[in-house]
Amino acid sequence: MINVAIDGPSGAGKSSISREAAKRLGYIYVDTGAMYRAAALFVMQHRIDPNDAEKVGSILPMLDIELRYEDGEQKVYLCGENVSRVIRTREVTRCAPIVSAIPKVRQCLSDMQQEMAQNNNIIMDGRDIGTVVLPHADVKIFLTASAEVRAQRRYKEMLEKGMEANYEDVLADIKERDYYDEHKPISPLRPARDSILIDTSEIDYEHSVQLVVDTIQSCIR
Ligand code: DC
Repeated sequence: MINVAIDGPSGAGKSSISREAAKRLGYIYVDTGAMYRAAALFVMQHRIDPNDAEKVGSILPMLDIELRYEDGEQKVYLCGENVSRVIRTREVTRCAPIVSAIPKVRQCLSDMQQEMAQNNNIIMDGRDIGTVVLPHADVKIFLTASAEVRAQRRYKEMLEKGMEANYEDVLADIKERDYYDEHKPISPLRPARDSILIDTSEIDYEHSVQLVVDTIQSCIR
């Protein structure tokens, strides 16, 4: 099985680039951020304080996350319910980093991710895939872009969706998330030593996808 790990900061376009690269290569795309989001929603549904690691740990045996592929799209199911949309809400986005900082949660999701990688050709994206989850991945890519470029893209996307946005606020949010991701005590965001750095600051989406596909193909040849 071919395992590709793609890590990087939020807003670097990891998910959309990984999804499209997987489609072109005929691999399964595994969005681990979506799994952490589903775990956060699970904690919220049980009305548990996400900071209470012990209580969160106690409900983990009931956590049932499934990634299904319907019409080529990845759908996230939590205990049999399609939660693909609700995991993108602000509430869940806020809760996810708290829940994902709990070691037992990371262990539980990491086990699920390793199992998926055993049985499929996959592209898995996240923060700790090349460093922790799949340290022996065939290809490791660290996908990034400058904070300013990521903020600019996000700002444009928000305006296009008709949302109110202020560029400086978006940039401050991105810098704050970067700091948190890079300094969290477990699984901090950092490139694996043997990862290939791809910086998309100066290239558009189509070129980024092609570069990722070419990089994977040249590594597995
Ligand atoms: O990439 P995203 O925004 O969908 O990720 C949601 C949350 O999960 C975010 O707080 C980072 C966290 N995460 C993580 O800790 N480890 C991963 N492998 C993927 C995401």
